[in-house]
Amino acid sequence: MAQKRENIHKYLFGHPFRTDSVVADIPVSAGEAPYLLRSQDETGEVFRYALSEEDRAYGLGEQVRGIDKRGWVYASWNMDDPEIHENRQSLYASHNFLVVDGKEKFGVFVDSPGKVVYDIDYTTRGEMAIFCGRDFGLYIIEGESVLDVIRTFRKMIGRSYIPPKFAFGFAQSRWGYMNETDVREVADEYGKCGFPVDMIVLDIDYMENYKDFTINGERFPDFPAFVREMKARGIRLIPIIDAAVKAEDGYSVYEEGCKGGYFCKDKDGKPFIVGVWPGDSALPDFLSPEARAWFGEKYRVLLDCGIEGFWNDMNEPSLFYSKDSLARTIRGIAEKEGKNLSLTEFWSITGSVARLANNADDYASFYHETEGGKVSHKEVHNLYGYNMVRAASEYFGKYDKDKRTLIYSRSSHIGMHRYGGIWTGDNASRWDHLLLNLKMLPSLNMCGFLYVGADIGGFGQDTTEDLLLRWTALGAFVPLMRNHCTFGSRRQEYYRFGNRQAFKNLLDMRYSLVPYLYSEFVKSALRDELMYTPLGFLYPDDERAKETEDQMFVGGSIMIAPVYRQNTRGRNVYLPEDMKMVRMRSVSDYTEEILPKGDHYVEMGFGEVVFFVAKGKAIPLAKPAKNVAALDEEHLLWIKYADGKTTYELYDDDGFTTDVREENIRTFTV
Ligand code: NOJ
Repeated sequence: MAQKRENIHKYLFGHPFRTDSVVADIPVSAGEAPYLLRSQDETGEVFRYALSEEDRAYGLGEQVRGIDKRGWVYASWNMDDPEIHENRQSLYASHNFLVVDGKEKFGVFVDSPGKVVYDIDYTTRGEMAIFCGRDFGLYIIEGESVLDVIRTFRKMIGRSYIPPKFAFGFAQSRWGYMNETDVREVADEYGKCGFPVDMIVLDIDYMENYKDFTINGERFPDFPAFVREMKARGIRLIPIIDAAVKAEDGYSVYEEGCKGGYFCKDKDGKPFIVGVWPGDSALPDFLSPEARAWFGEKYRVLLDCGIEGFWNDMNEPSLFYSKDSLARTIRGIAEKEGKNLSLTEFWSITGSVARLANNADDYASFYHETEGGKVSHKEVHNLYGYNMVRAASEYFGKYDKDKRTLIYSRSSHIGMHRYGGIWTGDNASRWDHLLLNLKMLPSLNMCGFLYVGADIGGFGQDTTEDLLLRWTALGAFVPLMRNHCTFGSRRQEYYRFGNRQAFKNLLDMRYSLVPYLYSEFVKSALRDELMYTPLGFLYPDDERAKETEDQMFVGGSIMIAPVYRQNTRGRNVYLPEDMKMVRMRSVSDYTEEILPKGDHYVEMGFGEVVFFVAKGKAIPLAKPAKNVAALDEEHLLWIKYADGKTTYELYDDDGFTTDVREENIRTFTV
């Protein structure tokens, strides 16, 4: 085997802001960065690379389009906009790492908290141009293979977050569970149908007037008792915490924040007021270590009630408006009252209203107190959600240093992968969003995010039973398996549909897969590896494998090929080598068949989980149970590629301890 080359080149430009994305101590290199041609334009530094026809570009984490990113412009600018389609440039996260795979293989990481733009083969065919701004770090990572480059990068940014094991169970969610009765109904119906479930998620309605760290006493009269009641049934409640804090006199969190100077400030030093769910709100300054410590400690009130997991939302930060811009807009419109407007004037009214949300001028109008002094938000925009999660995570470590607490966020940036997981925001009930969910998985892993998931069934719009079934069949292989949707949309809890047996099969199969998924997940975290690997990374000499973006390895043993088109009974599957196809309705009802390398049309029924075991590999399965804690992992069933001896490295632990290590891996001979 060729000797492994770990080669990282680091360069600094201007006065880079300390992002804490990288944890390794890497010396600054002399000279110019290899591979890239440096120039300047009005935005700052630009780096170009000539792409040859066979080059591919992978990465950028939470982004639109395919696994190969060629042919579009992507911008890192965390953005709350639920209109997700292939012509968007930014979603909720900024993940500035990509790998070029061709004659040259190298990774590029732009360590910047602000906007970075990647024009990959879009403006000029055959050219990749990266617009980095003025103040940033640039890392070039070399390696023998794409996987080698990724491993080096992942090591450099530090170990990925590992949630407690219950987080690998299923989570039922919906915006609109208003009170105890609504939540109990979900738990009851799951129980009646024999559907396993580990978590019921609480959206903003559990709070009092959308105020963080409060509980609506009418809707949840005895919250600690309710948390206990649910836990006794094997279900954990997972409440939401939003970024912005309601600006209201008498609300202790707001008053403390004002007193301590913990909110982002306007140019005059007053809390910058924005509109989010609670109306006028202030934004905690998560970039200040003191504000982080203060906000983190607020979680105590919920932890003391027995809560063991949270989600963080609206932390791009999402602004529906700022108080100032809203007032300006209303004045502008009022001036036009009674006038005979030209169309242009009319459109200027609608435009001014449309521009209120997430407005660039607003992002330039408030400031953070950082260790390095006062900074305009616009320079560090992409770090906000990251540091919100960090605030919580740092406190969880203080609250109970030996225990893992679940947390996942909407907005993120590389660095946050050490503190929590993410869900990929407001997708919709669309078949292309199911495919996007699949394609994003390896890109997210490349950037350190292992505990990830998308809203199964789609957040916006109305789902259909077949979409939900197909999406759940993919979700069965994804760490964060959460069915979530918006209020007003069609209800999509599984018990509301006719084909309950099919949903039960899929949920049971998920629980059967937990020993494998947990084991592969933790090994990926410990070894800085991918949990989801595109075929092209594993079979680099196989052009067909490189073009296959709708199949993927999950862990080291199996490949999945989900159905993502409506009214199809199955799909074409490309096997880069001989594999064993396993078709399971349950652990006691399945068929196995070795299929030769090449193309196959594979039928996939609604209540079946079909996967492919790679040559020489095995996977453990458990009998399904009502939740993760109830799984019998002492008596595992094994599926393997062929007769004869096969080994499998199984990671397991008590599911809570923070002391996660290689020593917990046992090698099984199957
Ligand atoms: C936006 C989030 O993305 C969504 O999941 C949530 O339901 C709503 N905010 C309401 O909290």
